[in-house]
Amino acid sequence: MLIDFPETEVIAYYTLSAYTVEITELNSSLAKGLPRYPLLPATLLGRLAVDRDYRGQHLGELMLIDALKKALEATASVASLAVIAEAIDETAANFYRKYGFQECQDNSSKLYLPMKSINELCQSLNI
Ligand SMILES: CC(C)(COP(=O)(O)OP(=O)(O)OC[C@H]1O[C@@H](n2cnc3c(N)ncnc32)[C@H](O)[C@@H]1OP(=O)(O)O)[C@@H](O)C(=O)NCCC(=O)NCCS
Repeated sequence: MLIDFPETEVIAYYTLSAYTVEITELNSSLAKGLPRYPLLPATLLGRLAVDRDYRGQHLGELMLIDALKKALEATASVASLAVIAEAIDETAANFYRKYGFQECQDNSSKLYLPMKSINELCQSLNI
């Protein structure tokens, strides 16, 4: 959660939670190297949002990268192969696509970014 200081107004937020994804939902190139269990561990990025008055200042990007980094760090203890985002509409899906998220098979509102890509992103940002 991002809070405007010294006010106490919430200007942006997201949630992360443990999730599972069906192997059939993933792109075949990612699914290829994975164990053939029907359900695989993932991390759900719950609705990420920035207050309307604060949009366009890269706070959405800041929150997304913060969420991806936290999800990656958590894999030191709990397995997760990707971060999944459920976009509320096409505009939201486009925001995630900009950062490399791909659509799940048969569900264009559900997108994922493999943990390997998140690791590369964090390394490139030196965070
Ligand atoms: C989507 C949302 C989080 C973006 O937040 P924001 O702070 O306005 O976005 P940012 O300023 O961080 O944008 C970062 C980059 O993404 C781009 N971008 C922002 N929203 C975008 C969208 N919907 N589609 C494509 N690109 C988008 C910006 O142009 C910017 O690009 P740049 O780096 O080339 O300048 C915000 O509009 C929001 O809260 N929307 C309502 C809720 C929502 O749709 N959440 C998404 C998940 S359900």
